[in-house]
Amino acid sequence: MNDRSNRRGGLLEKARIRLRVNGEEREVLAPVHHTLLEVLREELGLPGTKHGCELGECGTCTVLVGGQPVLSCLTLPVECEGREVTTVEGLAAGGALHPLQQAFAELGSAQCGYCIPGFLLSAAALLRERPSPTRQEIAEATAGNLCRCTGYLKILEAIELAAARMRSRMENASD
Ligand code: FES
Ligand code: FES
Repeated sequence: MNDRSNRRGGLLEKARIRLRVNGEEREVLAPVHHTLLEVLREELGLPGTKHGCELGECGTCTVLVGGQPVLSCLTLPVECEGREVTTVEGLAAGGALHPLQQAFAELGSAQCGYCIPGFLLSAAALLRERPSPTRQEIAEATAGNLCRCTGYLKILEAIELAAARMRSRMENASD
């Protein structure tokens, strides 16, 4: 459904969008030209997803849609209707950090931190599909995420540490 509203004397077409974000059904009225990145940050108040280049080149806007990493700066919200959208705000569960968040914090893998939400979500998608990734596989899965601060080594190490802990948790749960 489309609505029209006045803004600064001009007409701005808005669309009503229903999204499932971090396990919650959300409905917003957003300008039709807004990307998923803009809707998450501006209409839904979820600033954890960062905007960088807005050209599909830096990966800092990565979120999961249906469990797969997508660049939210190049995605229209309407493409996500009926699918689960996960942002960095949805990674922690029950007040506990996700093992990836824990490992990044312990190893000091973030410097300015701007790229980290995107890395966390790319890594979360990888570990869901490949619980024991090689260093090369981790590097490939996060190749679209650029970091200008860290040199990447501590990020790769944190993902390996989180993977090891998640495997050990699974083994203990099945004992
Ligand atoms: S902000 Fe989306 S890829 Fe850079
Ligand atoms: S920690 Fe600064 S861009 Fe990655």
